[in-house]
Amino acid sequence: MTDRAQTPKPAQPATEQSSDKLWGGRFDGPTNAFVEEFTASVQFDRRLYAQDIEGSIAHATMLAAVGVLTNDERDRIVEGLAAIRTDIEAGRFTWSIALEDVHMNIESALTARIGEVGKKLHTARSRNDQVATDIRLYLRGEIDRLTGMLDRLLNALIDLAEREADTVLPGFTHLQAAQPVSFGHHLLAWFEMLLRDRERLRDCRKRTDSLPLGAGALAGTTFPIDRALTAELLGFTRICENSLDAVADRDFAIEFTACGALMMVHFSRMAEEMVLWSSQQFGFIELADAFCTGSSMMPQKKNPDVPELVRGKSGRVIGHLIALLTLMKSQPLAYNKDNQEDKEPLFDTVDTLRGCLRAFGDLIPTMQVRRDRMREAARAGFTTATDFADYLVRLGIPFRDAHAVVGAAVRIAVERGCELKDLSLAELQALDGRIGAEVFGALDVDAALAARDHRGGTAPGRVRAACAQARLRLGTEAAH
Ligand code: ARG
Repeated sequence: MTDRAQTPKPAQPATEQSSDKLWGGRFDGPTNAFVEEFTASVQFDRRLYAQDIEGSIAHATMLAAVGVLTNDERDRIVEGLAAIRTDIEAGRFTWSIALEDVHMNIESALTARIGEVGKKLHTARSRNDQVATDIRLYLRGEIDRLTGMLDRLLNALIDLAEREADTVLPGFTHLQAAQPVSFGHHLLAWFEMLLRDRERLRDCRKRTDSLPLGAGALAGTTFPIDRALTAELLGFTRICENSLDAVADRDFAIEFTACGALMMVHFSRMAEEMVLWSSQQFGFIELADAFCTGSSMMPQKKNPDVPELVRGKSGRVIGHLIALLTLMKSQPLAYNKDNQEDKEPLFDTVDTLRGCLRAFGDLIPTMQVRRDRMREAARAGFTTATDFADYLVRLGIPFRDAHAVVGAAVRIAVERGCELKDLSLAELQALDGRIGAEVFGALDVDAALAARDHRGGTAPGRVRAACAQARLRLGTEAAH
């Protein structure tokens, strides 16, 4: 390809039609072979064949309804398109780079199949409004599929959270053991993050669900089209209200990618925790063998490849977001060929999200929870020191003073290499005479959990209630 590009063939002598392109009328010579390949998009936009055909069928149906096509012409076009769809799905369709993109590949196949009438399909339409329509149809469908997969994961999180409501886990800040929390509570934090992602996806669906067809190349069409009918046929709730904007903007795709990037950032945080938790040092969970791989050199290894890959793949989607924003920036209205570059980042965002949703949806329900290890870790690191201070506050000691007393107790325990509960009552009373034996109750991790008994708190009863609530919220969301 490159060789030919550097030494383009001399322009051919003009023949009856010197360019064999669908748009070749005003051209004298053929396209440079490298340029043909460079400008083509069929290599990747053939993925839109189903939406392209669906859009064309709706367009032809509308054209017949307003009298631009006869019913017979419409029927032949619709039949031809349906047959092409069958061919594509059976792998019998030959895609041609010379025909540039999915739209012209299908249109020329139509004319080859049904004859002259196929050439009427493109009346009152441009590839500019056609491609914008295809992408919106595609993305709308993908958002629905992704939402379904997300629902499965969200349900799995609730199930696991319910099962692990009583499981004590050290909660961390700065990755230092901070306070004990219910493992179920931690899982519900993941649920909240992803539920917001779901909301964002559904919200961006609204702006995706709008019909560009009718905008033509940029200025609309001179034919008496019925855009409301086309919208209805394609199930669009809205119609793009300005023909220039309809073909020019891809903000819906950017928005989707932004939702995706944020979701991937959430996934990467979940993944990071799974990687940490499954290490020997933490030992909080064990990932099922089916989701891990070994090392070619170190026989003892069981690596958490799946969460690591999910974590790594967040980089791609963040990159796609930046790519799409940059692609759109400073483009003059209306359509520019730049927009052809929207597809690969968008497709890869969809594929990546789908892969990660599938991975987590399968992996999370099968991970083994090492409750004993979590409990042991929750008890180490003086995680109930705040509870100790709160106990002193209830005795009437101001919190700042209580903080200092507990700090002194921690120092003693550190020196001794023991836990707070291993200090004697006499030692504690030496720090403050008001301390009684009930203090040991406050130092217990289960008591610490149970004491945080308010909405949004980690008491196991609250976690179970939050699970029930989460199911209801998901049910309501799922209806939208
Ligand atoms: N392949 C093109 C794209 O993806 C289709 C629209 C081309 N329009 C044009 N005027 N060249 O954007």
